[in-house]
Amino acid sequence: MTRDLHSHASACGKVILLGEHAVVYGYPAIAAGLPNGLSLSATRHADPAKPIHLKIPAWELDLHLDAITHHPVARACCEVLRFCGGPLQGWTITGQTSLPARAGLGSSAALTVAMARLVLGEDAEVDTVMEASLIGERIFHETPSGIDSLVAARGGILRFVRSQEPTPLTPALSIPLMIVPSLLPRSTATQVAKVRRKIERFPNPGQAILSALGAVVDEGMTAIQTGNLADLGEMMSISHELLSALGVSSPRLDQLFHCALEHGALGAKLTGAGGGGCLIALLPPSEASESSEPVMKTAFCQLNLQPFVVNLAHP
Ligand code: MEV
Repeated sequence: MTRDLHSHASACGKVILLGEHAVVYGYPAIAAGLPNGLSLSATRHADPAKPIHLKIPAWELDLHLDAITHHPVARACCEVLRFCGGPLQGWTITGQTSLPARAGLGSSAALTVAMARLVLGEDAEVDTVMEASLIGERIFHETPSGIDSLVAARGGILRFVRSQEPTPLTPALSIPLMIVPSLLPRSTATQVAKVRRKIERFPNPGQAILSALGAVVDEGMTAIQTGNLADLGEMMSISHELLSALGVSSPRLDQLFHCALEHGALGAKLTGAGGGGCLIALLPPSEASESSEPVMKTAFCQLNLQPFVVNLAHP
């Protein structure tokens, strides 16, 4: 007996502040939920035998969740629905989002978390929702650490270590971030595999870089908890350089990194798997950022990009 879908479910997007890639190897990372990441609504289809129709116009997704399809989104959604005991036929699911897809802001985790919640309900146990989400995430990313699913399900600012209970962090000041989509497509699985090859080929320097990324997270956590945005910015910039040494930056991301620093950012870095996706730039605290934010925004707009600002605070 399959369960019916709820009429509505949602999930957060995510931004990794520090520690991506190293988190796959057991080092800590800090990530924050982006509220209103993805919202799904479900209505019954006139034909109960028709495969589920999934439409998310903002991601140009319009497909049928046919279990034998090779489309990764359809396969991932089918697996999540099946794990949760949900239906594979007789419904139309429509998604609304302002998150760009495949840009390092957790679009696939938001989709798998919201899909699980359509079956299990908005107040389902986070652990069960995460377990379901990870089944889908493995289809997209092969060896996900779980940080994207956790933040998509929980929101807030979290310190995460693989297979450990996450620690919610309360920032002493809100953290103003400019998020700059580079418009370069990239695949998380490819970037993670690239790092793995580098570490296998050069284990000693590779492990040293991972360990440095972990140390940067520890400093960054203190900076967040004490409201020291200048130190947090420095940790972000160091993290960008370390990720670049692992080979997951790109000429475009490096250009955006320097552009942010030249226009008043306290620090900047690629976020998520890299190779493309987004840059995040830390703005000075509110009074000072009133002058630097428009200057930085103009600089990125002149590169034909559309940055946006989020203020991270603990809910
Ligand atoms: C992707 O958002 C973050 C990575 O660290 C991969 C993962 O943690 O699964 C690159």
